[in-house]
Amino acid sequence: MRKKLVAGNWKMHKTLTEAKVWLQELLSHTLPSSAEAALMVPFTSLPAAQEVLSGSPVAFGAQDVSAHQEGAYTGEISAKMLADLGCKYTIIGHSERRAYHKEPDLLVAEKAKRLLEANIAPILCVGEPLEVREAGEAVFYTLKQLEGSLQGVNPGSPHNLVIAYEPVWAIGTGKNATPDDAENMHDEIRSWLSSRFGKEYAAGVRILYGGSVKPDNAAALFAQPNIDGGLAGGASLQLESYLLLLGAAR
Ligand code: PGA
Repeated sequence: MRKKLVAGNWKMHKTLTEAKVWLQELLSHTLPSSAEAALMVPFTSLPAAQEVLSGSPVAFGAQDVSAHQEGAYTGEISAKMLADLGCKYTIIGHSERRAYHKEPDLLVAEKAKRLLEANIAPILCVGEPLEVREAGEAVFYTLKQLEGSLQGVNPGSPHNLVIAYEPVWAIGTGKNATPDDAENMHDEIRSWLSSRFGKEYAAGVRILYGGSVKPDNAAALFAQPNIDGGLAGGASLQLESYLLLLGAAR
């Protein structure tokens, strides 16, 4: 059985002080035990997450990591630094990094390796832009991105890897993939994982849907057999909507 995961991606929102207040308020609620809650916060808010969430069932992590272990890489943050702050997960290959920072698949694969060396599970994002979907190439494109982003990567256990299918046209646009379209892609992703890592392994990997996940569409998406939760941006910023997403995952 795969426990559903509802991961929030705060992107570049909230100061350390704001994050601390938000996370303390989150813990003042009774959280459903049917799903795992996790918040991917800006680097600067990780100390607040560590202070508030350590010992709680709520996991946390970062939104990116350096592809290097350590050294003269000004401005970068290593997987070891993230592990020291208690990160359980970290997003890699988000479409905003692929687009604005020109991150290619092979760099994403290096980042996956660094995270796994530090015992942090990558939340690896893949997904097609609008023109690719309109050309009928969404599955081919997404699986190719997955293959490139996992080149040379050996995650060990299925718990060490999370895939997030995030169609680029759905991110921050209010347009989500239909539950059927998303399920179809998730099924393809799981089949690909099966051919690469074996059937049993693939059956244990959580595949999240991301792209305008909101309280009013989450339950239908999360009810699909191969959708194991969500990666939510906008809807994870307000406590009320994040709690509704958690409640929709069972
Ligand atoms: P969104 O973002 O929920 O605001 O569409 C999702 C993401 O980019 O991870």
